[in-house]
Amino acid sequence: MTFYSSLRSSKLLTYLLLLVVAGVAALLLSTTLAGDRLSWRSQSLPKAGGSTTINNRSSRAFGNPAPGLTPQEMDLHTAGDIAFDDVFVTAPATVNPGLGPLFNNSSCSGCHVGNGRGLPQLGQALVRVSLPVSPGQTIAPEAGVVPVPQIGTQLRDHAVYGQLPEAKIELSWREGAGQYPDGGSYRLRSPQLLIRQADPNKPIPDTLLTSLRIPPPVFGDGLLEAIPEKTLAQWADPTDQNSDGISGRINRVWDPERQGFTLGRFGLKASSPNLRHQTASAYVHDMGVSNPLFPDRSGTGESQTPQVGAEIGTEISTEISDRTLQSATFYTQTLGVPARTQLDDPTIETGEKLFIQANCAACHLPTIKTGSSPIPALAHQTIHPYTDLLLHDLGLGLADHRPDFDATGQEWRTPPLWGLGLTQTVLPYAGYLHDGRARSIEEAILWHGGEAEASKAQFMAMEVGDRQALLSFLNSL
Ligand code: HEC
Ligand code: HEC
Repeated sequence: MTFYSSLRSSKLLTYLLLLVVAGVAALLLSTTLAGDRLSWRSQSLPKAGGSTTINNRSSRAFGNPAPGLTPQEMDLHTAGDIAFDDVFVTAPATVNPGLGPLFNNSSCSGCHVGNGRGLPQLGQALVRVSLPVSPGQTIAPEAGVVPVPQIGTQLRDHAVYGQLPEAKIELSWREGAGQYPDGGSYRLRSPQLLIRQADPNKPIPDTLLTSLRIPPPVFGDGLLEAIPEKTLAQWADPTDQNSDGISGRINRVWDPERQGFTLGRFGLKASSPNLRHQTASAYVHDMGVSNPLFPDRSGTGESQTPQVGAEIGTEISTEISDRTLQSATFYTQTLGVPARTQLDDPTIETGEKLFIQANCAACHLPTIKTGSSPIPALAHQTIHPYTDLLLHDLGLGLADHRPDFDATGQEWRTPPLWGLGLTQTVLPYAGYLHDGRARSIEEAILWHGGEAEASKAQFMAMEVGDRQALLSFLNSL
């Protein structure tokens, strides 16, 4: 009673109000100061993608244009964003432009979810195929592998209405258990593929070689494209001259536009020479969409003659124009790289030291300089991608036994680790490694063998706190 009556006294009310206002002001001031400190801090720390770094660690972290694009470049990026999301519709095989008739998915973003990975599920994951080289057989240089008759080098398990897919594929998982030297236990799973014929005209040979692959993230790829060939050649150590057990090889692949061999950089075995090729190949093989580089939409042969020199803007008889191919390519070249987080956390600093000590950095190179680039924002940047883009033998556990150009059935390209900690923020349940078998970063490390066997052994021998610190570091990328 007395409380309410005194509240009504206007003097007290004024005091109370003043108190509240002062409190709010103090709160605002402190958060602004903290914000200032944060922005000051992130400016002074290594930027994952050089000047193309963006401060965004949300589920949209992989979907931002690189800062520093010119207005014209920004237009092309926006057009590419639309192309990347564009869903091709199931149209009768005679209608142009259209999906299929054979395909794995109907849009780029249907596989590279949020510009990150796809799930280890068919429809996003896909199966590359080929046949073993028989004695005396020579491979068409531009194919890099022996294509499967009537099918080519990739199984399309979807087809437009009224058509048969190339195969029925079932994916299941086999799980096993393992132990750390300290007694801690873990479980690892690996995929099992069951492939059956779906089209009477397309037999599945018994000798089929298969390689299950998930879509990898596509941000920062323009920076990786801008690393000079010379730099990559310097890191390669094919005969392990320095006897550290780690070789690192360059894949030599066919560039249909230059009609010659060149260094491979993209794809999980570095079998694609550049992002334009990778994009054109995705259009024709993953979606059945013909384009200036691959004018035959059946996508069964690698050795197509591209319409080299087709003028931009001229009518061409493919389902997408060169402008669309160019913009979709440009989009993956100009996505910003998310900044690292919690750099001054002592646990993460310890983890970073352990990463170096365990020799992870021998393949996952922390710092690289890009060279010149037709896109000025990408040129001469100091970046932190944690890859050498080279092929390494990671042992039998991860082998697909399917060679790809110069890559053996046991080799994989070192994947970049930037943005690694955001993987499941962008796509919950996303997996790691080439086929998404690893459900956590820890499982991904435990699968390392071959050239990385010693690194894995060091990780396993660490005490549990150190293993956690290393994982915290990887999650801060
Ligand atoms: C069916 C799913 C699927 C679709 C659709 C798809 N991709 Fe991919 N993408 C993949 C897979 C799987 C790989 C790895 C390929 C390999 O190792 O051979 C990949 C690789 C890439 C890479 C190379 C990344 C790297 O780190 O090397 C780029 C770039 C890319 N895709 C862009 C695109 C674009 C652009 C489109 C649309 C035009 C597209 N993709 C459509 C599944 C897909
Ligand atoms: C000899 C080279 C090499 C060394 C050393 C190495 N890695 Fe890797 N790493 C690779 C390759 C190649 C792959 C891809 C394997 C695959 O997809 O099957 C990979 C994959 C990974 C992945 C999964 C990335 C993704 O995008 O799914 C992580 C995480 C990783 N490595 C962390 C480490 C850590 C931590 C160490 C040190 C304990 C280490 N690596 C040592 C070459 C290496």
